[in-house]
Amino acid sequence: MTGQTAPAAPPAGVSVDVPAKINPHLGVGDPRADGYHALSTVYQAISLHDTVTAQRRGEPGIEITISGEGAGTLPTGEDNLAHKAAKLIALYAGIEPDVKLHLNKRIPVAGGLAGGSADAAGALIACARLWDVEIGDAELHRLAAGLGSDVPFCLKGGTAIGTGRGEELTPVRAKGSWHWVVATTDTQIATPECYKEVDRLREDGIGRYSSDVGAIVQAFEAGADADSLARLLVNDMEAAAVSLRPQLASLMHGGLEEGALAAHVSGSGPTVLFLATDVKHSVALARRIRMRGGARSVHLAHGPVAGPAA
Ligand code: C5P
Repeated sequence: MTGQTAPAAPPAGVSVDVPAKINPHLGVGDPRADGYHALSTVYQAISLHDTVTAQRRGEPGIEITISGEGAGTLPTGEDNLAHKAAKLIALYAGIEPDVKLHLNKRIPVAGGLAGGSADAAGALIACARLWDVEIGDAELHRLAAGLGSDVPFCLKGGTAIGTGRGEELTPVRAKGSWHWVVATTDTQIATPECYKEVDRLREDGIGRYSSDVGAIVQAFEAGADADSLARLLVNDMEAAAVSLRPQLASLMHGGLEEGALAAHVSGSGPTVLFLATDVKHSVALARRIRMRGGARSVHLAHGPVAGPAA
């Protein structure tokens, strides 16, 4: 024993896993006065996730590095939603931001799975923990809603009804687990682009507002089997996504031919979700969809899973 104290351990980082979201029901109303569309949706968090790690930088500033999906193409500066989230928490706490954020991305970019919103939710939580910021649920929700319509749900995970522009949440007690094959494509769709296409198609008389989430909420609460759920999936943006990226139609059709119970565009697309009977079926279905070609990547996922601030 020398009597010396051990050198201080390097400051531990804070790591937060944030799941992707899907919308088993996505009802899109008309644009409101503020330009956002009224939504009546059911969100569900799935087991595909990004990991946000926050570490002290040792000097003022917000530094972002990215690995995985979108690395090298996504912005790492103030345009990144995670950067905005870190800045917002620092502003709330009245402190100078001092953080290195690393985003390890598995959620496809601009795919309709809320990858950017997940990173923002993760950055809010990770920075609040790193900087010891005391923040209540309501305040965190308010900051999240300011960052984007899907960010509040990304904090919570699980299953929830979303109203307003998607930021007003009512939790749903889903009893069960559902298995999906997630097929990404070579293309991306920016969310506003898809909303514009919904409006354009409606001017031509194509599309409706599926405002009633009652049946699918009941199915989740009752732990319905996948066959029943398949008949209840709704996406009012699907026609718009297919109109923008017509190749989605053959991807969807192919998955159905391979035995999927349903093919469902995720949010504003272009990711396509295929519902499987159970985990065994999802593994076989994923293999067949991969062999068929036409998807950029094919993942297995199940939901619901908890979010980082559940
Ligand atoms: O809320 P968020 O920033 O994620 O929305 C991105 C864009 O998507 C908005 O600027 C708007 O064009 C469109 N949007 C919409 N109605 C919603 C949510 C998003 O029109 N309910």
